[in-house]
Amino acid sequence: MKAESWGTRLGLILAMAGNAVGLGNFLRFPVQAVQNGGGAFIIPYLVCFLLMGIPLLWVEWSVGRFGGKKGIHSTPFILDAMDRRRFWKYIGVFGIFTNIAVASYYCYIESWTLSYVFHSIIGTFRGMSQAEVAQFFVDYTEIDKTTLGIPYEAIVFYILCLALNTWILSRGLAGIEKVAVVGVPLLLIFGAFLAFQGLTLGTSGATPEHPDANSWEGINFLWTPQYDSLLNPKVWLAAAGQIFFTLSVGMGTIQCYASYVRSKEDIALNATSAGFTNEFVEVVLGSLIVIPIAAGYLGIDWVRENAGFGMAFQTMPYLFDKWGALLGAIAGVFWFGLLFFAGITSSLAMGTPWVGFMQDEFRWTREKGALSFGLIILAFGLPTVLFFHQGVFDEYDYWGGTVSLVIFALIEIILFAWIFGIDKGWAELMEGSDIKVPIVYKYIIKYITPVLLLFVFLGSFISPPV
Ligand code: PHE
Repeated sequence: MKAESWGTRLGLILAMAGNAVGLGNFLRFPVQAVQNGGGAFIIPYLVCFLLMGIPLLWVEWSVGRFGGKKGIHSTPFILDAMDRRRFWKYIGVFGIFTNIAVASYYCYIESWTLSYVFHSIIGTFRGMSQAEVAQFFVDYTEIDKTTLGIPYEAIVFYILCLALNTWILSRGLAGIEKVAVVGVPLLLIFGAFLAFQGLTLGTSGATPEHPDANSWEGINFLWTPQYDSLLNPKVWLAAAGQIFFTLSVGMGTIQCYASYVRSKEDIALNATSAGFTNEFVEVVLGSLIVIPIAAGYLGIDWVRENAGFGMAFQTMPYLFDKWGALLGAIAGVFWFGLLFFAGITSSLAMGTPWVGFMQDEFRWTREKGALSFGLIILAFGLPTVLFFHQGVFDEYDYWGGTVSLVIFALIEIILFAWIFGIDKGWAELMEGSDIKVPIVYKYIIKYITPVLLLFVFLGSFISPPV
């Protein structure tokens, strides 16, 4: 088999940025922030980024390239190569199942974005009231109803979305790189355009029904720090979970992508660039779109009461429609198209650990690996599609998208810093590096990050999901 690697450095960074930048940045971050007290969330969030997110990124890139040098591209085998004991392999397998759990509901949201691009083009939302737009989403996800005369439209788009993922995955790295090189710049441009709207909307979206609407209140809500909840373990768990989710750490996807980095190529700077790009998109663009725009038309109280993945789908089409038929349709295609690109460059990343494992373990072809991934996601994802309103979706997100990531990250960092050994690990990170990572991070990786991870993990027992 010919050894695969990323085509160019830009391709690698964009693929990694595309992996990290996703629905998490635009949809999950605002929801987590609102549910955890707005400004109260931001400080734990930034602390988690510096003390857990960035160190874990370096760890995962190092682990990945280490495996790649040995010709291994799947997390179970990479972890296995780091120590003689057999059980590390199963930790890697646990990571693969986390990917499957997350991809199952993630691809469902991704399929909404596809469907909403379609509906923006055909003008479904023209002239709808806010209540009708919100109801459209409920009908759409309540799949016993027909939407627009198409029965089970949600399932149709879900399958379409999985088919697209499967097809691109089956084309390997080159396919992923191509999607990222086009998708990531596009989503940055669309995002900047919409963030500008969020910033400048102010009170001009207020109506007699929502006289208090004000986009700046949305921004203030997020960015006025509140210190009282810093002692609340639930906020810390949510902040850590969001950092892991948004950086895509704690599941094995980064290791897989990094295993295709050429053996002498830099990882420290690449990891840092991809991580900071993600944070820029999340804290700047992610915080200036959904919440300010929803607050700008419906008021901040509405936002507080309706925070959820569906929020953006229940509000944005109505807002766009106010810009007129043509501009509204264009904005709809921009926004949902942006979400689609953000989503697919991430869900492809979730597929690579599975496909890599099937190739390494069973010598399957990539095509067979990709097809089996699509079918498994279909099987695991259908409950989230069929029972969306019964809370199945939120359970997947809590267990798959928060708790599992923390557990995996904790075990992985122990392996890296204590068993593989921090000196060896640090040397791996620094090999071929284009930057000098401050040496203090060697100690952070060894002592601080694992202890914090342990606290966050234990904290999750004190504070079950709300
Ligand atoms: N980081 C992606 C996002 O923010 C989600 C993701 C998680 C992707 C884990 C890959 C692995 O949407």
